[in-house]
Amino acid sequence: MRDELKTQSTDSKNARRLASITERFEETFGSPPTFIASAPGRVNLIGEHTDYNDGYVCPVAIDKYLNIAVRKRSDRRVVMHALDVSESWDFSLDALTPIPRQTPAWSRYLIGVASVLQASGKQVAGIDAVITGDVPIGAGLSSSAALSVAATLAFLTAGSEAEVPLSETDKTELAALCQRVEHEFAGVKCGIMDQTISLLGQGNCGLFLDCRSLEYEHVPLNLSDHAIAICNTKVKRELAASEYNKRRAECERGVEILRQWLPGITSLRDITLADFKKYEEELPTLTQKRCRYVIEENTRVVEAVSVLKCRDESTSTKTEIDESLIALGRLMNASHDGLRDDYQVSCPELDLLTDIARDITGVVGSRMTGAGFGGCTVSIVHKDALETFQRRVATEYHEKTGIEPEIYRCHVSNGAQVFWNF
Ligand code: GLA
Repeated sequence: MRDELKTQSTDSKNARRLASITERFEETFGSPPTFIASAPGRVNLIGEHTDYNDGYVCPVAIDKYLNIAVRKRSDRRVVMHALDVSESWDFSLDALTPIPRQTPAWSRYLIGVASVLQASGKQVAGIDAVITGDVPIGAGLSSSAALSVAATLAFLTAGSEAEVPLSETDKTELAALCQRVEHEFAGVKCGIMDQTISLLGQGNCGLFLDCRSLEYEHVPLNLSDHAIAICNTKVKRELAASEYNKRRAECERGVEILRQWLPGITSLRDITLADFKKYEEELPTLTQKRCRYVIEENTRVVEAVSVLKCRDESTSTKTEIDESLIALGRLMNASHDGLRDDYQVSCPELDLLTDIARDITGVVGSRMTGAGFGGCTVSIVHKDALETFQRRVATEYHEKTGIEPEIYRCHVSNGAQVFWNF
């Protein structure tokens, strides 16, 4: 088990990370990289499976990154080494498809990014690249979005041969391009949350994102004596991608049926809880459960954000502050319960982790995060309870599953960056 609950200086961690990638690049290609494109994973505090329903989300960028060290080539080839899986691959920017069957999964993302960028008229250059990171793969912390985002910055920066200052609008546009990579090259009809937070994350802030208008707000996380802890079940279910696409279709079906009574709606985002209650009986049972969860979850996100904001602006006493955190915790718990019972994307291991967490004094809330069917939970834990949290979660989860979970304390970080000096 990792002892990551202890605080480390983010700056020194960062410097070490960049130095070690530089060294690996030199070992592989014989001279240092020109720049390093780095994109974080994310943990979603609340608003799960709402993004592709045009709803609200509130994720944070975490201090785990996917890094690509890059040197521009004079030809149109892309030569890559993925250190963490000890695999290499190369391709030509002029012959991206059809993708050979034996192409490794990680490499398909880079081919996808190059293809989508070129198709949208962006200048892309051939590169030598070393890829490495510490976002756990397939753990629900958006390692694939981090890979697409880092690859996007790598290709664009090499293509322009200089630092490209990205405006907020550019970032929103790039998030949509990265989402297309997931749709067209990985077959997952994902929403826009993961790519957006990886690009737009801000230290110690949640990103309150309206996934329809793409308007957003950075909401300061004033958690006072509390920390965000992430627990990895270390399980992932094969059916995750197909069930994900199925949920999306079920929600769309619900909207189609409900449109008979609510003609103006185009997504579940448009339906109030009160309206839903009037017509829910018209829906097949499963569709009804899926829609109820999404509509309730949207209201929980809005409520959670207003709790966070009033903590930020609050001049209230300590007791009142703690009460608002308790409210946030309740919303997180209710989110998990809805995902487990109505949306049915949890699994025994995620339920076990949340049950153990909620039983520990000092934990205000705990829920699964990400698409589900394995992956991670996110919990808000009082700093004094962190050691007990780590010990009890590790022991009790191991006793019941035989698996040693990974437990991290999450430091909320900035979105993707390109580093030139390291
Ligand atoms: C995955 C998808 C996101 C989002 C979450 C569930 O992470 O990539 O778009 O739908 O699942 O909230």
